[in-house]
Amino acid sequence: MDSSLARLHQTAPPEESFLDCLVRGLSKTPKDIPCKYFYDSQGSQLFEQICALPEYYQTRTETALLADHAGEIAQLMGDGIEILEFGAGALKKVRILLDAARVAAYSPLDISGDYLREVVVTLAADYPALILRPLIGDFTQGLEIPLLPGNPRRAGFFPGSTIGNFRPDAAMALLRRMRALLPGGGLLIGVDLVKDPARLHAAYNDAAGITALFNKNLLARANRELGADFDLSGFAHYAPYNALGHRIEMYLVSLRRQSASLMGQRIDFAAGEAIHTEDSHKYTIESFREMAARAGFRPRAVWTDPERLFSLHWLES
Ligand code: AVI
Repeated sequence: MDSSLARLHQTAPPEESFLDCLVRGLSKTPKDIPCKYFYDSQGSQLFEQICALPEYYQTRTETALLADHAGEIAQLMGDGIEILEFGAGALKKVRILLDAARVAAYSPLDISGDYLREVVVTLAADYPALILRPLIGDFTQGLEIPLLPGNPRRAGFFPGSTIGNFRPDAAMALLRRMRALLPGGGLLIGVDLVKDPARLHAAYNDAAGITALFNKNLLARANRELGADFDLSGFAHYAPYNALGHRIEMYLVSLRRQSASLMGQRIDFAAGEAIHTEDSHKYTIESFREMAARAGFRPRAVWTDPERLFSLHWLES
């Protein structure tokens, strides 16, 4: 399986490293760290735990929507399609589609080659007739992904409301780039919905404190990988819902005046100073369909649960 892992040609210039991002993001006011750095192996494990939390309704609601509507989704996708999953992770949700639809090929795209290599082996054993094309790459960057020979139709799969972690302008640009990769098909995308602020607040401030650990893992990761000396007990997890911006905002707040050293650089924090670590935008069904249409898609079917917590959209490209 190793030999079939393809590293994609990136059309955008190479990204800054974790170190460069940290130095830049922590030297300015207000401070920030991009949320994509949550997902080293410890962060990915913590995220898996978040997905199973009672307060985090998103994963189980989306999984139920996929299972309940798999037949309809399969019909919309049509027979013999290639599924390209953006940020494939554990390759769990796609199994529902692979079981229901006549999928010819599956191309999971993920930034973490090691993890992908592991999970693809199990999937290959479970779906021996499927053409599997694991791809290593950062889907937020411009990517060229050639169509498979003899397979001109492709459906994108982007579950988990990861689209919400992009600012609306960046989300729209990402949808445009995705559309260009999906000729003759469409995009199946999960989107978390605007709802009771208390429900949203609970989902990002769980009683077991897993989301707080996930947030602090950014500093723990800097300590592990870069020899930094952030004192994790000196920071608090803070995740309020901004009702005007329709988003959860995540921060690490310095509990006192303190400094840390990062590769010989001193980073100072005032008491109460915050590092912005993530936004998680929530949409209404209408506002999301409007954005998708502006990105060039034709919004078709949409499925939601009885409580209207989460939505699943089929957008034709
Ligand atoms: C991956 N992403 C959609 C999650 C979210 O809900 O925005 C990340 C997350 N952050 C805190 N909890 C989960």
